[in-house]
Amino acid sequence: MAMKIGVPKEIKAFENRVGLSPSSVSELVLYNHNVFVQTDAGLGSGFSNKDYLEAGANIVNSIEDVYNNSELIVKVKEPQEAEYNLLKQNHTLFTYLHLASSQSLTNALLNCGATCIAYETVQKSDGSLPLLLPMSEIAGRLSVIEGSKYLQKTYGGKGKLISSVPGVASTKVLVLGGGIVGTNAARMASGLGASVTIIDNNINRLRILEEILPANVKTIYSNRNNILKEICWADLIIGAVLIPGAQAPRLIRRADLQNMEPGTVLVDVAIDQGGCFETSKATTHMDPIYEVDGIIHYCVANMPGSVPRTATEALNNATLPYVLEIANKGINEALKNPEILKGLNIQNGKVVLKALIVQ
Ligand SMILES: NC(=O)c1ccc[n+]([C@@H]2O[C@H](COP(=O)([O-])OP(=O)(O)OC[C@H]3O[C@@H](n4cnc5c(N)ncnc54)[C@H](O)[C@@H]3O)[C@@H](O)[C@H]2O)c1
Repeated sequence: MAMKIGVPKEIKAFENRVGLSPSSVSELVLYNHNVFVQTDAGLGSGFSNKDYLEAGANIVNSIEDVYNNSELIVKVKEPQEAEYNLLKQNHTLFTYLHLASSQSLTNALLNCGATCIAYETVQKSDGSLPLLLPMSEIAGRLSVIEGSKYLQKTYGGKGKLISSVPGVASTKVLVLGGGIVGTNAARMASGLGASVTIIDNNINRLRILEEILPANVKTIYSNRNNILKEICWADLIIGAVLIPGAQAPRLIRRADLQNMEPGTVLVDVAIDQGGCFETSKATTHMDPIYEVDGIIHYCVANMPGSVPRTATEALNNATLPYVLEIANKGINEALKNPEILKGLNIQNGKVVLKALIVQ
């Protein structure tokens, strides 16, 4: 059965990603689904209306046309206030929702009666979160690119080149947390020639990292004593720890900054969970860094936002199999897949996700 699928242009400030890329659209069209894309929805990610037309989409002029024509709405960000009235009971919404942080959005989605599936709670049987993973990969890689920029003297950094050069001691990168973000950061920094240390409190994870990462990455078990020893020599420190569902642990305290050399750069990728440095506060791409006691802090909460072309494609690679399943089977059959069911947050005016009910 053909499904009508809508792709609105994102209206949240500074959001340039788009729910479906032209190549995802052409895949859906192969299965005879009808895709309605709002004019210019893909521009921020480098996709023109012509690209979508060639992929077989219908281009519609207004956001109202997208919602009125479609049963399944595929987005990136949570609906903004201006979109609340567009959602109806016959809609299935598939997007990042982060409902725990917005009661007004939760109320709006309960009132409209739509079926709401959140990217961030779709979960595989091993507990992994496949629709968050690509953004962690991007943030991990970007953390080294951004951090190495701010190590330059122009920005207040120590004035060290991340790769160093022959005959000059290597630049040192410390990564706290060896999960998806941390592994991608370590891979990037080691590839550039830095001396890298990863600290994690999961010994099995450290064993795996030692196997898969190059020899210029060493692993150290996470405890206060080891962290204090390592921060003295680091040029760039990347915060990438996560305790699922909890605030990030504060692994570096304000008083610890005096043990670092002035111009050391801290990149707190975990800022979206409160940050793992005591001195972290969220910043934006427009004003990404600030200094505390001579130490440069970079704490942008939506790092992938600066690379929407890569981020849209990476997100689509992860979401498309689920979009196809929902479109091909219909929402009721698709919800028999436990991975998609985990993503179900709201249905028929009721909160379904356990974590949200408990709050
Ligand atoms: N700022 C951004 O734009 C952005 C983008 C993507 C992800 N993130 C955030 O980055 C963080 C990391 O994400 P991830 O996908 O790598 O998570 P992950 O679960 O893959 O990895 C987290 C790692 O932290 C380790 N850890 C937990 N407590 C620790 C401790 N006390 N000491 C040392 N290690 C510890 C865990 O063992 C795990 O290996 C999350 O908070 C995530 O939300 C931020």
